[in-house]
Amino acid sequence: MSDVRVVVFDDAETAAGHVAGLLLGRLRAEPASVVGLAAGNTPRPVHAHLRAEAGGALAAAHLVGLDEYVGLAADDPAAFRTQFRRELVDPLGLAAERLHTLEGVAADLLAECARFEAALADLGGVSWQLLGIGRNGHIGFNEPGTPFDSRTRPVPLSETTRRDNAAAFAPDREVPRVALTQGIGTILSARSLVLLATGETKAEAVAAAVQGPCTVAVPASALQRHPDATVVLDRPAARRLR
Ligand code: F6R
Repeated sequence: MSDVRVVVFDDAETAAGHVAGLLLGRLRAEPASVVGLAAGNTPRPVHAHLRAEAGGALAAAHLVGLDEYVGLAADDPAAFRTQFRRELVDPLGLAAERLHTLEGVAADLLAECARFEAALADLGGVSWQLLGIGRNGHIGFNEPGTPFDSRTRPVPLSETTRRDNAAAFAPDREVPRVALTQGIGTILSARSLVLLATGETKAEAVAAAVQGPCTVAVPASALQRHPDATVVLDRPAARRLR
C-alpha cells in the first residue's frame, strides 16, 4: 500500500473546487510559490474556480507548464501555453513573463529541454504541482515504460494519447507525434503533488496508480514514491478503488 492520500468527491465540480482551495491555501502561506500547471480538460474547472476566487493570490507566483506539443508555436490555439494564457494568465491579469513553458518550435529541442530544467532550478524548483492522468496512466507526456528518474526531454506520443487529445485540434489538423515533457524525475522533484482525475474513463488508471505496484508500466504509480502526493477524484474516477 502507498502513502498517497486519496480524497473522493461526489462530482467533478466539487473535486475541482477542492483542488483550487488546496492551491489557494498554499499561496496564502507562500505567495511567491512556483506553481506547476497541467493542461488538458481535467484542470479546466480548477482554472474556472481560480478565476472566480483567486483575486490577486497568484500575482507573486510563478507558473510552470508540464509539457508542450512539438511544432506548435506559443500562440497556437491548441498549444498548452495558449490554454494557460486564455484560462488563467490573461483573465487574472498576471504578468506573461511569470509563465514558464517549454517552447514547442525551438530549433534545438534538446537545448530547449536543458534551458527549461535550468530555468526550473533558478526558480528553486516547483513548490506545488497539479497533474492530470492519461487513460494509460501517463503523467505529463511520460508514457508507460518511462524511467522514474527521467528528466525533461522530447518524447513520441502514443496513439492512445494522440486520439484522446484530438478534440483540441481543428478537424483538418494532425495531432503532433512528438512532445516535450518534464520527466518523471522532474515531476517528483516538486515539493507537493496533486493529481486530479475525473470521469470513469480514468478509473482503471487511477486504481493502478494508487493501489497497484509501483512500476514504470504505470507512470502515475511513481506518486507512491513521493512524500507529499494527494490524488483528488470524483466518484466515477474512484470506482475501481478497493
Ligand atoms: C497535460 C498533461 C497530461 C494530461 C492527461 C490528461 O499537461 O500533462 O498528462 O494531464 O493527458 O488529460 P485530460 O485532462 O485532457 O484528460
